Amino acid sequence: MGAFLEVSYVSKYFPDPSGRGMQCIFKDVQCGIDQGTFVTVVGHSGCGKSTLLNIIAGLERASAGGVVLDGKEIDAPGLDRMVVFQNFALMPWMSVYENIRVAVKAAHPAWAQTQVHACVLKYIEMVGLTDAASKRPAMLSGGMRQRVGIARAFSVEPKVLLLDEPFAQIDALTRGAIQEELVSIWMRTRNTVFMVTHDVDEAILLSDRIMLMTRGPEAEIAEVVDITIPRPRSRTSIIEHPHYYKIRNHIIHFLVERSRRCDRPAEAMSHHTGGIHG
Ligand SMILES: Nc1ncnc2c1ncn2[C@@H]1O[C@H](COP(=O)(O)OP(=O)(O)OP(=O)(O)O)[C@@H](O)[C@H]1O
Ligand SMILES: [Mg+2]
Repeated sequence: MGAFLEVSYVSKYFPDPSGRGMQCIFKDVQCGIDQGTFVTVVGHSGCGKSTLLNIIAGLERASAGGVVLDGKEIDAPGLDRMVVFQNFALMPWMSVYENIRVAVKAAHPAWAQTQVHACVLKYIEMVGLTDAASKRPAMLSGGMRQRVGIARAFSVEPKVLLLDEPFAQIDALTRGAIQEELVSIWMRTRNTVFMVTHDVDEAILLSDRIMLMTRGPEAEIAEVVDITIPRPRSRTSIIEHPHYYKIRNHIIHFLVERSRRCDRPAEAMSHHTGGIHG
């Protein structure tokens, strides 16, 4: 029996920039993600994080290996996986309410109007946008738009939420607030989440498990770090945890010093539990 979301020996090749051959972006990526787990992938720009997320989303095909979600092989996009991209992707002519309603209706075609309405309102409230429900995206700030994207993704109650640097374009202050909102929504829903980020602090705040990806080409998941800092977590409380700086330094050291292939021993994959060597 595999995990709820099982990524098995996934490799990806793209035509290389010279056009003469293929380039291996990453190879043999393997991970099993249990239901209700929040997993983050951290790695340098270009190592293939978005490509991996898109393969799980069914938007991109693996060159080798495959992904199984809840016993079913992924070969196309589906409403059991919702993606939040960094560029919001809302329908500009629709209000906040309507943007969420189309998603809920698509996911639950048999629901009555009142059931759809209740669900839409619940998720609008969850992200604190009740007062802005009738506004169109152009009338909202970047942070508010991103909250609509998050509400829309959660409202479908997908088996897996796929978040590709969802806060990258948001200013630092708003980002902190939305990260904390995401923590609290996740605490209530316990969705399975697969997120890509550059931000080490964000990864520690949100994750049960952080996968560290080496630089490409031929990138791989070199290490998995379990974050056992107790929940609920907030940005101010986690920094007081005795393991926090140890974990943070370990990850930053990996990114700066050990993420190139030539910097690492050949056997690669290791696993840390309970915040770095106990
Ligand atoms: N359609 C494509 N055709 C050819 N090469 C591609 C294609 N899509 C991505 N790549 C290449 O694959 C590599 C990985 O890209 P990807 O976008 O997955 O990286 P990433 O880790 O998400 O980077 P970032 O952190 O900057 O978002 C890059 O070298 C990129 O140029
Ligand atoms: Mg990316």
